[in-house]
Amino acid sequence: MDNTSKSKFVLLTGGAGYIGSHTIIPLIESGYEVVVIDNLFNACKGEGEKPVSILQVEKLTGKQVTFYAIDLLDYILLSEVFDKHEFCCVIHFAGLKYSNESCNIPLNYYKVNVCGSINLFQVMMEHNVKRLVFSSSSTVYSEPHFLPITELHPVGQSLVNVYDKSKYYIEGIIQDLCNSDKEWFVIILRYFNSVGAHSSGTLGEDPNGTPSNLMPYVAQVAVGKIQSLNVFGKHCSTIDGTGVRDYIHIMDLAEGHVSALEKMQKSNDSGAIAINLSTGNGYSVLQVINMFSQVSKQEIKYEIVDCPNGYCDSSYCDASFAKEYLGWEAKRTLKEMCEDTWRWLSLYPQGFSTTT
Ligand code: WQD
Repeated sequence: MDNTSKSKFVLLTGGAGYIGSHTIIPLIESGYEVVVIDNLFNACKGEGEKPVSILQVEKLTGKQVTFYAIDLLDYILLSEVFDKHEFCCVIHFAGLKYSNESCNIPLNYYKVNVCGSINLFQVMMEHNVKRLVFSSSSTVYSEPHFLPITELHPVGQSLVNVYDKSKYYIEGIIQDLCNSDKEWFVIILRYFNSVGAHSSGTLGEDPNGTPSNLMPYVAQVAVGKIQSLNVFGKHCSTIDGTGVRDYIHIMDLAEGHVSALEKMQKSNDSGAIAINLSTGNGYSVLQVINMFSQVSKQEIKYEIVDCPNGYCDSSYCDASFAKEYLGWEAKRTLKEMCEDTWRWLSLYPQGFSTTT
């Protein structure tokens, strides 16, 4: 059965967000027609219908992006989008994404992430669109039993946060869907720590309110928006006692999605395949702070505090399967991640909220 489609239309759910908006750029550069649906929960509205992130992408690429402000939970409107366009594939980014808050509002996270995904898969099935790239997370590995983490590492064991569990449950739903219908071909991308911004400085991570992730937090200390940073950990079993993570530049991550899509277009594989998407290099919190300070020429004030309960000292991946199966590997360095983040924050210190 030949399930390679001739259509060049790709649907991005949550495509107005940080990872989705950056992914549109290499998709357009690769000749795809991009359609975005987003409920704008975590995106800045523009003057008209389209969010600012989409307007910026249109300026950068010189191409129009079709945009629908709809929610994945709205089955009727979602179905109408599939009536209008013949998609070759769906890249599913949409979801709530903060581990810390997810335990306080579990039903929101399960409704948006899990029920939203089920709605999407149902509509895809009804329109015979059975190729999917799913935005999953390294958090499904929970506390690593071994390093570097390969795709064979157990998943779903002693997950703490509802966000992490939601990603794990969706991966399970995808596996069951593929087992029930051999026409499905799904690439599950497990991101590690996505950071950075497009090199133009006109697109970047635009967290609503105080960021919870390290890089945007360090950037906001550097730009003077936040006084100082709490560095978790002084007794981790790492190079300097602070937590080690595998940071990947957002444009490497974006290009990894295009590689996954190209693989689907050329291949007659089926089923669900999980792939780590990161560099395979681990950097400590202090190494990130020092690099950011060097790049920005700003002092980054910080205080080292005790680790929260259940803290993971080190997490970094074995990225070899992505190279083998997708022919993709991350190229950009930690220095470039910091340089691009700094350029974005210098041009947009308040993010996009000042442009509306
Ligand atoms: C990085 C390092 C912190 C803030 C993320 C999220 C989620 C997931 C990847 C996709 C860690 C330390 C942080 C601060 C600090 N991605 N830190 N002070 O903790 O790996 O979690 O994993 O799903 O984005 O779950 O990433 O960027 O929050 O932290 O010392 O104020 O910086 O402990 O070692 P983390 P992070």
